[in-house]
Amino acid sequence: MAKEKIVYYCTECGTTHPRWSGKCPDCGAWNSMEERKVSKKSQKIKITNKNQPRPLKDSQHKKIKRITTYNQEFDRVLGGGFVRGSVLLLGGEPGVGKSTLMLQVMDKITDKKCIYFSGEESEEQIRMRAQRVGIQNGEILLSCENSLEKIMHYMDKMNPDIIVVDSIQTIYSEQINNIPGSITQVKECSGQLTRKAKEVGCITVFVGHITKSGNIAGPKVMEHLVDSVLYLEGGENDLYRVLRSIKNRFGSTNEVGIFSMEEKGLKSVKNPSSFFLSERKAEVPGTAIAVSMEGTRPLLIEIQALVTNSSYGNPQRTAHGIGYKRLAMLVAVLEKRAGYQMGTQDIFVNIVGGMKIDETALNLSLVAAMASSFRDVSLPADSAFIGEVGLVGEVRSVPFIKQRVQEAAKFGYENIFIPGRNADNLNVNNANITGVHSIEHFFSLVF
Ligand SMILES: Nc1ncnc2c1ncn2[C@@H]1O[C@H](COP(=O)(O)OP(=O)(O)OP(=O)(O)O)[C@@H](O)[C@H]1O
Ligand SMILES: [Mg+2]
Repeated sequence: MAKEKIVYYCTECGTTHPRWSGKCPDCGAWNSMEERKVSKKSQKIKITNKNQPRPLKDSQHKKIKRITTYNQEFDRVLGGGFVRGSVLLLGGEPGVGKSTLMLQVMDKITDKKCIYFSGEESEEQIRMRAQRVGIQNGEILLSCENSLEKIMHYMDKMNPDIIVVDSIQTIYSEQINNIPGSITQVKECSGQLTRKAKEVGCITVFVGHITKSGNIAGPKVMEHLVDSVLYLEGGENDLYRVLRSIKNRFGSTNEVGIFSMEEKGLKSVKNPSSFFLSERKAEVPGTAIAVSMEGTRPLLIEIQALVTNSSYGNPQRTAHGIGYKRLAMLVAVLEKRAGYQMGTQDIFVNIVGGMKIDETALNLSLVAAMASSFRDVSLPADSAFIGEVGLVGEVRSVPFIKQRVQEAAKFGYENIFIPGRNADNLNVNNANITGVHSIEHFFSLVF
């Protein structure tokens, strides 16, 4: 066995020192020193020709080979499938469905050796979930190992094609004295597993917890280390889940995958627009259809508003799915530019289905829904509203207008109100397009 030596590692600046001290001599941080065992053998430097610097022109261009997951939405977010040796981080709120998603992904990859390391759940719990969601692939290997060294041993010995580490916060290195989940442990474990994944060409997925502020718990360096960072979003009580990639070294970060959470696990939503509009009542005042872009896909969504006399002195403003500040801004524009006196009204706005959307192209439908509820008059039947509303009440152009209009027309929303500048020379089958320049102009057409 290689001899071990004790060094002291500063968790703030990453330097190592032979002796402990209360203050790091390099960065001056207090109480940041941690004891670490270092194998003497690992300090020897081996030089191989493999990584010797070479001119760019000598490197052969190889087309990236993708390994499909046979899960259309997951593949879409990855950019066409997994890449051999790539390392991914999948984050999400507790209970959103991370473990379920990874089990379902491994289920379909029957021609590859997959190991699922779970440091959080017992084999029994995983088997129960597998049974509930109808996992067919009995060849998936399960292990409740959470020692880094042992996981790396299995990676060497069993030569898997794909491993899932659920979650990276439960893995610990026996060489470090900190508890699992601490910054030092997560940094060390993710770093060593990433190096091993690249060395043996194994696709590695780390499942990661999310902090209250929405970041993946642990060091930020983990997000830099991995090739892709995916987030699974959606409240535990929402029907749908959205998978987004916020970093992808092998594809675009524009694409999103939409799933519905059912008893049988996560199901790809093939037609998201009809999914979100399935229970709509069009004839009621206060509802409007908007077209949002989720990645490169247009998505029809329903905006609902309720504007009612406030019984108390302090009117409420409540927004679900859009930012509160955007709501306040649009209410101010309605008051100032269209003369709607909303100072004494309670205003509630909701994006149906629990989606959260930042896109400014939703502004026109938000304004339309609020005005419709305030006046208690429903909007014209079969209509959709697309456009950004500026502070002086102007309706500004938005990108991807043709795709948005086509999606609305496809679902029978044939009267489509869009920004005037976008309407020039735009023709779409089965769509009756009206260009609007300002909200005053818009209201003169719809009410
Ligand atoms: N019988 C069931 N029917 C429908 N949905 C269920 C059922 N059991 C569990 N679920 C769903 O599965 C979710 C839990 O999934 P999963 O354990 O994969 O989430 P997770 O993100 O891995 O959670 P954690 O952060 O705790 O590891 C629940 O929140 C619930 O939405
Ligand atoms: Mg889990």
